[in-house]
Amino acid sequence: MEAKKTEQTWNPDRYERNAGFVADLGTPVFDLLAPVADEKILDLGCGHGKLTGKFADLGADVTGVDASPEQIAACHKLGLNARVLSGESLDYNGDFDAVFSNAALHWMQKADDVIAGVYRALKPGGRFVGEMGGGDNVKKVSDALLAALAQRRIDGNALWPWYFPTTDDYRGRLEKAGFRVDYMEMIDRPTPLPGDVSDWLDTFCESFLAAVPQSDRQDFLAQVRQALVPDLMDDNGQWTVDYVRLRFKAGKPE
Ligand code: BEZ
Repeated sequence: MEAKKTEQTWNPDRYERNAGFVADLGTPVFDLLAPVADEKILDLGCGHGKLTGKFADLGADVTGVDASPEQIAACHKLGLNARVLSGESLDYNGDFDAVFSNAALHWMQKADDVIAGVYRALKPGGRFVGEMGGGDNVKKVSDALLAALAQRRIDGNALWPWYFPTTDDYRGRLEKAGFRVDYMEMIDRPTPLPGDVSDWLDTFCESFLAAVPQSDRQDFLAQVRQALVPDLMDDNGQWTVDYVRLRFKAGKPE
């Protein structure tokens, strides 16, 4: 069946309920950036602003950008400086000491456009520090989704909403854009969920779910969930998703 791609949408409350852990687990990449007061920082894909607020609390001059108007409205409610803007069309020019991104770059499939925009946004000597899904990130989940879609004659690959690069791929793109790569690591990080995997699917997999007729959606979700039980749910009912992180630090030469 011809699959039609649907844009992921974001609801800040649902996101906080089912994925509040994302910002908490962002501490290592926050520390890798080592922000200091008065620095000008761009938080790329800032979501509902949890980490953006941490930069502001430190006294940094932080701007958040995110493609989701709902997430930016949530940032404004926290009193943060934030703008609706896609990471694929950044329009800054030498404005920032650092660009930071946690768990957002894998939603931006035009990676070269993102990297070029970040490069332009930085001052000479500025740094780009981020963490994203890489390599076989959430592969068990995506395999189960693709299999359940294939059974319905839907080509899930045509609906694929993510970009999970290898280290070689991402390093190559950064260097081609002019960055010096100071650190890069692929890290397995199995991640316990706060609830059931179906809430996670509901929050993050809109592109796949929207291709399934509403009348079949509950059965589809139940089938994917069932396929994941042996690998991702323990005897106590705790779900753990197979996250893999690509963490990096790159510099724009002086
Ligand atoms: C991630 O953070 O790696 C991720 C989250 C939701 C869907 C896909 C990947």
